[in-house]
Amino acid sequence: MNAVVLLGPPGAGKGTVSEVLVGKGYTHVSTGDLLREQIRLETTLGLEAKQRMDQGKFVPDDVVVGMIRDLLQSSDANANFLFDGFPRTLVQAEKLDELIEALSGTLEEVVLLQCPDEVIVERLSGRRTCSKCGMVYHIKYNPAVQEGKCDIEGCELMQRPDDNSETIKKRLDVYKEQTAPLITYYEAKGLIHPIDAAKSIAEVRLAVLARIG
Ligand code: AP5
Repeated sequence: MNAVVLLGPPGAGKGTVSEVLVGKGYTHVSTGDLLREQIRLETTLGLEAKQRMDQGKFVPDDVVVGMIRDLLQSSDANANFLFDGFPRTLVQAEKLDELIEALSGTLEEVVLLQCPDEVIVERLSGRRTCSKCGMVYHIKYNPAVQEGKCDIEGCELMQRPDDNSETIKKRLDVYKEQTAPLITYYEAKGLIHPIDAAKSIAEVRLAVLARIG
């Protein structure tokens, strides 16, 4: 197996960029989406995770690493994984290295989406999501054809519970404290490739495709 990691603060556009890479043969793995699915199914894991996610705190490393371990061990040996939102701590990064090594795989690139805080706040405040298909919109930068309705499902768009101003600030603080150190970790391995994610959606997608598409 081969893997690429999309690293960057909340709202940098990891999910938005992932959409184009899925068409290039990558298997998109978003730990945020996996956790929200557990919440939707009302599992014990999901109910515990929800409390932390709604406050902008991370879910414990062992829970997230366990989900990724299960997924990798049950996947096709030739799969190309695109990790979005994982790893987020040094412990998770080290565990991912171990899992990849155990499967004789390679971590090929870590694409770092760089974006200033004020841009992130505007993006997350204006994000809207379809609860049925998961499609992500932005009221200004990526609007639905009919305001407030999903283009695919036609149902009402929702705002994520963690996209309020207080929780966005908390998520940014947690990113700086716990995830930003991964930049140095991956720089030391020669794997980091920074991209200016403050540009338009089309420009960011092109830059990422040029790098790993
Ligand atoms: P997760 O769902 O991963 O959230 P996140 O990292 O905070 O990232 P987002 O999904 O908010 O943003 P994104 O970068 O994907 O941006 P998007 O493309 O949507 O995690 C949620 C929570 O789960 C965490 O807080 C934590 O509690 C828990 N969790 C998850 N993984 C974990 C882990 N590994 N360990 C522990 N806990 C974990 O774009 C945002 C908006 O901007 C959209 O509206 C989009 O349309 C718009 N947009 C995107 N790009 C552009 C652009 N270039 N120009 C203009 N608008 C744009």
